[in-house]
Amino acid sequence: AHLWLGITVSVFVLSSAKMLVFFTVAAGLALIVLFFLRERFPYFFQDCAYMLRNVILAVRMLKCRKSKPFYSIVDRFLDAASRHPSKVFIHFEGRAYSYGEVDKQSNKVARALQAEVRLQEGDSVALFLANEPSFVWTWLGLAKLGCPVALLNFNIRSKSLLHCFSCCGAKVLLTCPELLDAVEEILPTLKEQGIRVFILADSCSVPDIVPLSVKISQASDEPLSPALRSNIHIRTTALYIYTSGTTGLPKAAIVTHERVWAASFLLFACGATAEDIIYVNLPLYHSAGFLIGTAGAIDRGMTVILRRKFSASQFWDDCRKYNVTVMQYIGETLRYLCNTPKKDNEKNHKVRMAIGNGVRSDVWSEFLNRFGDIKVRELYAATEGNIGFINYTSKIGAVGRRNILQQLIFPHTLIKFDVEKEEPVRNSDGLCIKAARGETGLLVGKVTQRSPFIGYAGNKQQTEKKRLRDVLKKGDLYFNTGDLLRFDEENFVYFQDRVGDTFRWKGENVATSEVADILSMAHCVLEANVYGVKVEGHEGRIGMAAITLKEGEDFDCSDTYKQVSNHLPAYARPRFIRIQPCLEMTGTFKMKKVKLVEEGFNPAHIEDQLYFLDTDKRTYVPLTEEIYRAISSREIKL
Ligand SMILES: *[C@@H]1O[C@H](CO)[C@@H](O)[C@H](O)[C@H]1NC(C)=O
Ligand SMILES: *[C@@H]1O[C@H](CO)[C@@H](O)[C@H](O)[C@H]1NC(C)=O
Repeated sequence: AHLWLGITVSVFVLSSAKMLVFFTVAAGLALIVLFFLRERFPYFFQDCAYMLRNVILAVRMLKCRKSKPFYSIVDRFLDAASRHPSKVFIHFEGRAYSYGEVDKQSNKVARALQAEVRLQEGDSVALFLANEPSFVWTWLGLAKLGCPVALLNFNIRSKSLLHCFSCCGAKVLLTCPELLDAVEEILPTLKEQGIRVFILADSCSVPDIVPLSVKISQASDEPLSPALRSNIHIRTTALYIYTSGTTGLPKAAIVTHERVWAASFLLFACGATAEDIIYVNLPLYHSAGFLIGTAGAIDRGMTVILRRKFSASQFWDDCRKYNVTVMQYIGETLRYLCNTPKKDNEKNHKVRMAIGNGVRSDVWSEFLNRFGDIKVRELYAATEGNIGFINYTSKIGAVGRRNILQQLIFPHTLIKFDVEKEEPVRNSDGLCIKAARGETGLLVGKVTQRSPFIGYAGNKQQTEKKRLRDVLKKGDLYFNTGDLLRFDEENFVYFQDRVGDTFRWKGENVATSEVADILSMAHCVLEANVYGVKVEGHEGRIGMAAITLKEGEDFDCSDTYKQVSNHLPAYARPRFIRIQPCLEMTGTFKMKKVKLVEEGFNPAHIEDQLYFLDTDKRTYVPLTEEIYRAISSREIKL
């Protein structure tokens, strides 16, 4: 018995010693593995944290999808309003509007409108409003009635405005006094079509435009029955948001409730919380300001500091005044901030995160230098697209990072693209060819049940143009983003150019955004817009840049030459420079190129100063009529 006991005890001792050794070894191994992962995969933990947030979001999305009745962003707003009715929802021009107030105001708007027109669930209404709190509560009111809302760009006029309005099939247009002139201009056509027009004003001198403000203030603020929107589900149209249209007329992207949720989740995915205060100075008619910023704030229950429009000089004062912690940017706005005169207190603010897209790496670095340690979350996504990336690791220059989870859930790929023909390269079987790692390719996202491509309202042809079939297999279907991207060895994603912006010269592709980055590093250059122009008797297009100069600077021919010749291959150097007082932008600060391309480089037709890169003299020289003639007659070889 003793023997047995001895054996048992020793086995036990032995095994616990073994266990101890085992645990020590295991812990050691785990540490080594973690250390290895950190060394070998420096982004492992950030990837995990990001994926975890995505899993949480996927679960929330699933819940929304399954819930009956459907739980929309409006329900989320109502929950926020009942949880913290007195919390400030919107700060605007010195006045604060609480969640409770906005809720009541939206009830009044909905009731006032309903008394005027019999709006049914599913009837579209177009909003042509400025960036004001009324934009938000009018939308909320309509959403409570189950009406899809078209967000018209308040910069567009006449034919373009009519086109956008007609796309969404609305029978009602709502506007504000500031935009009255624009509406009056198209009123005869609207009347012909039997469209009802309302204005958020106490009175209106134009006979066919009905003032609504008095009726709104007299309407009851009682909650509206959820039964009014009982047929809404995740695939119902919630909004129409218009593409910015750097070329041609804008297209109305159909935004379903699913998309609204996906975009509203981005603030959370980037790590924003209810305590954050977001500064929205982008137009509310676009996804960035409306969905990511405002709807995202509703999802988190945050406070929004709303501005009529972006102002570089007011920016940091506003951030300090309102304790802003999260800011949004788009296209060139970060550059505008960097171009403001330096101040001593510019690192004195609470902004911790900037969310947006389209920043170039030179501006990114400068922005961090000037304004301190702000996490820049560069996003890549299109309103109508079915794929996006987020830069959640702060790697400068990258628009994001792909991970396995995303690849599984939202299959996407880069395919080889022929810039000349502006179409994907296909093999002998008629299928597209995957771009090699590190190679620039066209981003396409597989259209699946989970990642649908809904398309554009009232525009079958444009919708079809964005569809790409027979990509990797016969009969498959992808969404063509129209963007050229590159994935590097570490899975970082880099935006290269938009299809159509990239041009070909001497058999090489020139990415205009890269050239613009280099050019704007020349000390005299403020901003650069790069494009390709046709030259008689040459294939492809040659590089040209429209630039603006820094205040008090003249165009420095030799420095600019040094800059482009040191950093760019010969074929990518802009051979022509056009000095402009300012660059023409779209409503979302994207540079307009089409007109510049058409105008070309003939000094007889262009009033702006023009320069020519003279390869013999190794500098830029003024582009004279002689030089122009010599180029046309091919005395000067390009
Ligand atoms: C900003 O924060 C400070 C200190 O935390 C506070 O005193 C101030 O009232 C805040 N400002 C606003 C507009 O909330
Ligand atoms: C990602 O964000 C960080 C800062 O948050 C930035 O330094 C980095 O450049 C970004 N990457 C890209 C590709 O933009």
